[in-house]
Amino acid sequence: MSLVRNIVAVSKDPEIQRLAQQYGREVFGADNLADALDIIKTAKPDLILFDHRFSPSQIREFLDTADKYSGDVPVVAIGDDDSDIGLSGEFVKMGAYDYLRGRRDYSRLEQIINTIENNLNASGCEAGRKTGCLAPGPEINTSRFFAGSLAVSVSMVGKSCAIVNALKMTKLVAESRCNPILIVGETGTGKELVARAIHTLRHPNEPFVAVNCAALTANLLESELFGHVKGSFTGADREKIGLLELASSGTLLLDEISEMPVDLQAKLLRVLQEKNFRKVGGIRNIDCKATIMASSNRNLNNEVLASRFRRDLYYRLNVSPITLAPLRSPERRDDIRLLAEYFLKTSTICPEKRNKIKSLTQMAIEALEKHDWPGNVRELSNVIERAILLETTDKIGLGGIVIDPAEYGLVSGSPTANLIKGFSLAKAERELISRALQETGWQKTRAAALLGITRATLYAKVKQYQIEKDSCIDRNPANAKGGHDFPVSSISKPVAIC
Ligand SMILES: Nc1ncnc2c1ncn2[C@@H]1O[C@H](COP(=O)(O)OP(=O)(O)OP(=O)(O)O)[C@@H](O)[C@H]1O
Ligand SMILES: [Mg+2]
Repeated sequence: MSLVRNIVAVSKDPEIQRLAQQYGREVFGADNLADALDIIKTAKPDLILFDHRFSPSQIREFLDTADKYSGDVPVVAIGDDDSDIGLSGEFVKMGAYDYLRGRRDYSRLEQIINTIENNLNASGCEAGRKTGCLAPGPEINTSRFFAGSLAVSVSMVGKSCAIVNALKMTKLVAESRCNPILIVGETGTGKELVARAIHTLRHPNEPFVAVNCAALTANLLESELFGHVKGSFTGADREKIGLLELASSGTLLLDEISEMPVDLQAKLLRVLQEKNFRKVGGIRNIDCKATIMASSNRNLNNEVLASRFRRDLYYRLNVSPITLAPLRSPERRDDIRLLAEYFLKTSTICPEKRNKIKSLTQMAIEALEKHDWPGNVRELSNVIERAILLETTDKIGLGGIVIDPAEYGLVSGSPTANLIKGFSLAKAERELISRALQETGWQKTRAAALLGITRATLYAKVKQYQIEKDSCIDRNPANAKGGHDFPVSSISKPVAIC
């Protein structure tokens, strides 16, 4: 992804400042709305981030004033870690481009910026700004990665038959009146991207609200979906608007629908049939105008056979399902190289290496193409980010491709098993830590973040392996050259440091 030019972060939180630094070429911090207004008069930002201190109506008020100076600059609101899923719709209604639900959602900022930039590239700069797009960064040759403008609009890479067919189906369904819409496929295949593509085609200016049915208890999920009236149960000390209402004429995505409790499935079916619902404890019918989308990485037919999913709801959902093929399937395997190259080009994991690592060697690509990818595109993206982190030359070779056998149950004899043969976990761990420290100039907080461990663990490991600043890292001269097609020294095992 290209770095955006100017970001204003209206926040006192150093983590949000850091998040902005990751994506902006120039980042301006503001403590309050008055300061922010002063900054945007001169800085002409491409994106404004607000932290959880600001309410949807404060943001609306701010945008009304700011419009005079900055045009329709996109705003992303960032909630705290306990923030309510329902707030997403409220912020979007008030003019925010999107909403991040605390730290667990920070990684989505990259996707949001990508989408904004791709919209801009697709629609031309001025139109792009009107719909909340950023000034263009360094170009990505979009036609190389995407099968058409719909794919561009949601950054859905792929030119394989599987993706072309899925996009065709997505367009057909979006342009029909089909509601509800079912999207199925293994984890990480891009179901949420498809949901966003349909949303973009159908009602781009309406709210997009998503809820993960596996993440909440039955009671909580019910009141999230339908809302509740004050006093309807112990703890209901105020009236709550449900996601169905917040989605308004936009989209409600029910992620992992197979995990929805059976009682609630019956209530959902009623909404789909009657097109209205009541809040928990309420007596008034509320119209449901939203497009309801459901996604599942389980085979719903099997869930019906096992009596975990209602047959009638399954039939209601399964009118024109959109299916995403696994990355390993013959119809999609061709996309592996393209995806890997795209992630290499757009990753922001090491900003200092941007545009320095130019390609993958043929052997590295072959190793990627041989792997089974149980985590699909999400897993591939992680493997490429890990390779970028490890790479010290301008080319990623086979040694940089570290696939996590522990996480995905790698069996000996599978294509990537050779990558780990003959290496010890301890040696791999030592080298990985050394590399992370070297990459970050011994900034331990950043190194720990890159490795996904705490600072305390990092300190303990540095001590345990006696890693020293000057003696850091493998001295094998072969590894200093570009494009090594052999496992780098002892890096062989996952980044599974505990
Ligand atoms: N074709 C693609 N091109 C680029 N990125 C993709 C593609 N498909 C998926 N991704 C990326 O992979 C990650 C997972 O995608 P997504 O969340 O849409 O998957 P999912 O099918 O909804 O997974 P889950 O079932 O785990 O929720 C996201 O970061 C997404 O941007
Ligand atoms: Mg999903």
